Amino acid sequence: MKKTVLVSGGAGFIGSHVTVELVQAGYDVIIADNMSNCDTTNYEGVCAILGYKPLFIKMDFCDAPAVEKLFAEHKIDAVIHFAAFKAVGESVAEPLMYYKNNLDSFLNVLEASRKSGTNVLFSSSATVYGEPDRTPVTEQSPRKSATSPYGNTKQMCEDFLRDCVAAYGMHGIALRYFNPIGAHPSALIGELPRGVPNNLVPFITQTAIGKRACLSIFGDDYPTPDGTCLRDYIDVVDLAKAHVCAVSRMVEGRMEEPYEIYNIGTGRPESVLELVQAFEKVNGLKLNYRIAPRRPGDVTEVWADPSLAQEKLGWKATRTVEETLASAWAWEKHLAAKAAE
Ligand code: UD1
Repeated sequence: MKKTVLVSGGAGFIGSHVTVELVQAGYDVIIADNMSNCDTTNYEGVCAILGYKPLFIKMDFCDAPAVEKLFAEHKIDAVIHFAAFKAVGESVAEPLMYYKNNLDSFLNVLEASRKSGTNVLFSSSATVYGEPDRTPVTEQSPRKSATSPYGNTKQMCEDFLRDCVAAYGMHGIALRYFNPIGAHPSALIGELPRGVPNNLVPFITQTAIGKRACLSIFGDDYPTPDGTCLRDYIDVVDLAKAHVCAVSRMVEGRMEEPYEIYNIGTGRPESVLELVQAFEKVNGLKLNYRIAPRRPGDVTEVWADPSLAQEKLGWKATRTVEETLASAWAWEKHLAAKAAE
């Protein structure tokens, strides 16, 4: 009997890649998304890659009766919760919007999962570590007080899951992603930022394709080897595979603790300048960039110690940053070709 995984926010960047990997690993997937921050591009890409259409339900996870109905109508073995707002700056300007959406939706997922005995995987973030005292960070590194409502929702949702697991006998995993980048090797699914991208790699690819005039590198006076910030850029397909490992650990009853947390990163720090130069080299082009002032709220350096995920989930990142940056560029070109049709 195939196990069924509900992917909330499954039409988005990470959710679409996770859907592909889950189906290819033998799971049935139900995608549910309110389409508030994406169009059908990634869902169509998922269907093209898989050669069939996973069940798609348009719904909002803040709608408690709709969530209850979904769980009542389907036997769901695990839910992966991606459906959330994710722009750091926007969350500072609109905290109530972020708190209502990101917390309500997850509370509804927890309530329905409690009733139906469903395993819960929460999509968390390295943002919970803030500016770490020591790098690389392990799962034991202290969480720092959040610098944005977005970061705060990640911390709170982790705590909701921990407390529900403790009280109700549920099982849950939080995956803390570092910086997810890249696209599927087919170039049929990828990141689709609305408006001006906040994140580095979409800004790089949009500059390379001519949609943006110039990339600003935010600060070159950080206490790092080349003065630019250090991050752990994790390939989105590698990241998606970590979800398959985590889901199978949950549904096959292999968890050692009812609530587990894993860092999902490469363990390899990369500076902004190194990333830009790697992008130029692997794709054989020159990028227009300039050094700009620091961006408020940026941490100097954060990267993962991913050894726990390797030991317990049997997962580790496999794609090189060059492969990943080539896939991001192939995706941008695919979008440009589609737009020109
Ligand atoms: C942010 C969030 C993180 C979230 C991630 C992906 C925080 C503190 N960070 O990470 O939680 O998971 O986005 O959505 O909450 N940069 C430039 N020029 C640009 C854009 C970025 O130089 O145009 C630099 C930044 O200063 C930073 C690096 O590139 O050093 C990465 O930035 P970005 O892609 O925005 O990710 P983070 O801020 O690390």
